[in-house]
Amino acid sequence: MIRINENFLKLQSSYLFSNIANKISQYQEANPEAEIIKLGIGDATRALPPACVAAFHRAVDEMAEDGTFRGYGPEQGYRFLRDKIAEADFQQRGADISAEEIFISDGSKCDTGNFQEILAGDISVALPDPVYPVYLDTNVMAGRAGDIKNGRYDNIHYMACTPENGFVPELPPESVDLIYLCFPNNPTGAMISKTELARWVDFARQNKALILYDAAYEAFISDEGLPRSIYEIEGAREVAVEFRSFSKTAGFTGTRCAFTVVPKDCMAYDSSGASHCLHALWNRRHSTKFNGVSYPVQRAAEAVYSSEGRQQVRAIIDFYRKNAARIRQAMDDLGYEYVGGTHSPYIWINTKSDSWEFFDRLLEKAGVVCTPGLGFGTCGKNFIRLSAFNSHENIEAAMKRIQKAHGALRAF
Ligand code: MLT
Repeated sequence: MIRINENFLKLQSSYLFSNIANKISQYQEANPEAEIIKLGIGDATRALPPACVAAFHRAVDEMAEDGTFRGYGPEQGYRFLRDKIAEADFQQRGADISAEEIFISDGSKCDTGNFQEILAGDISVALPDPVYPVYLDTNVMAGRAGDIKNGRYDNIHYMACTPENGFVPELPPESVDLIYLCFPNNPTGAMISKTELARWVDFARQNKALILYDAAYEAFISDEGLPRSIYEIEGAREVAVEFRSFSKTAGFTGTRCAFTVVPKDCMAYDSSGASHCLHALWNRRHSTKFNGVSYPVQRAAEAVYSSEGRQQVRAIIDFYRKNAARIRQAMDDLGYEYVGGTHSPYIWINTKSDSWEFFDRLLEKAGVVCTPGLGFGTCGKNFIRLSAFNSHENIEAAMKRIQKAHGALRAF
């Protein structure tokens, strides 16, 4: 008899963003005339930078000729891209990362979700609350989470991120094996300082733990003193894996290209206590289950590092930053407490009311879609997340609608 992985039965009924998409469809069906502005999922709305488009076209033309056609590429990615990343994103910032330590992939969602697969089934896991749901759900699927009660799984160590701690998690009181951190944070938009991040690296070294560091929103950091990579912190090479993406940087959400950094010094242990190189294990997993990102997409990503590419990417990020500033201004005018929007495209707003009820009111009264905070964890139950990924016109219209519907939206 074929049997299922019963851990899947422990998941919440559907993935957060699919759930929201269904709610929007239902609302649109019932209100076909409503013009909805979506500030929910963080999906790029600006076109690819022209430098990337030109490189993409050139690579497609190469694929059209026998002499320049490429079949399977290296599973880890082409050296032309890995070399550029190592130099521009790490070495130039004093982070000692080599091209061999970079694995090109089709997205950080997949990589942050898949990485736990090479780790033991019975390790302890610490997650921020609120959190990007992929980290939690994939540990539930792997059987590490236990049973759910009142929205929380028994075996997960939740690290509350609240106004009291500036939405930066505190070190767990006891040892944990696997720690997920994300900065600039999704969903709160909060950022961590080098001193705070160094405490996490020290904690991981003392406890022989591993940090999975999601830096997908790094391009939004606007203060040079803040860490863009965990490898700017001494000792991080031994205890941290970092995830980066071209999705939010250069609008690759539909084009798909990201990378994961697994330093060769990063170790994990078997049941006898012997150490193993995570780079070798991830390489084994990656080359078995993944066949590489397409050649034209990697050429398009490479163009991000050209001088025109850099300028164009900066302009895109500045565009979304302007949107984030407009949202912050509207929230200031209306007296909402919020965090984020400075080093991040996300603004995390305290609605002082149930987040799903606020989601419904915002949709009905203003025709604006947000992401309800409860979808990211119990600490988000009174918060919503607004995303700055949209046109200036739509952001302006959405803020005006929220201002107009203000009385009907607020529950305080
Ligand atoms: C989000 O809105 O949190 C992100 O777009 C989701 C993702 O990157 O998968």
